[in-house]
Amino acid sequence: MVHPDCRGTGIGTELMKAALAQADFPVLLTVDPNNALAVKFYQTLGLSIREHIRGFYRPHEDRSLMVYRSM
Ligand SMILES: CC(C)(COP(=O)(O)OP(=O)(O)OC[C@H]1O[C@@H](n2cnc3c(N)ncnc32)[C@H](O)[C@@H]1OP(=O)(O)O)[C@@H](O)C(=O)NCCC(=O)NCCS
Repeated sequence: MVHPDCRGTGIGTELMKAALAQADFPVLLTVDPNNALAVKFYQTLGLSIREHIRGFYRPHEDRSLMVYRSM
C-alpha cells in the first residue's frame, strides 16, 4: 500500500515494475473488483483479469484473480 499522501506520484508503478522484473511467471494476485483504480493500475502494468471468484474471503467478498506473464 502506498501512503495516501503519496498516491498518484508513480511510487506504486515503480515498485510493481521492480517486483515484476524479478518475479517468476506467471504472477498471480487478487484484487477487489470494486476497486476500479487498483484494477486499472494493474492492467496498465500488463496484468489481465483471469477469473472472478465469488466469496473469495467471505460470502460477500468477491475478488478478481489477475495474472501477469512475462512479455
Ligand atoms: C493502487 C496503488 C498501489 C497505486 O499506487 P500509486 O503509487 O498511487 O500509483 P501511481 O502513482 O504509480 O499511479 C498509477 C496510476 O493510478 C493513478 N492513481 C493512482 N492512485 C491515485 C490517486 N490516489 N489519485 C490519483 N491518481 C491515482 C495514477 O494517475 C496513475 O494512472 P496513469 O498512469 O494513467 O496516470 C495505491 O493507490 C494504493 O496503495 N491504494 C490503496 C491500496 C490498494 O487499493 N491496493 C490494491 C489492493 S490489491
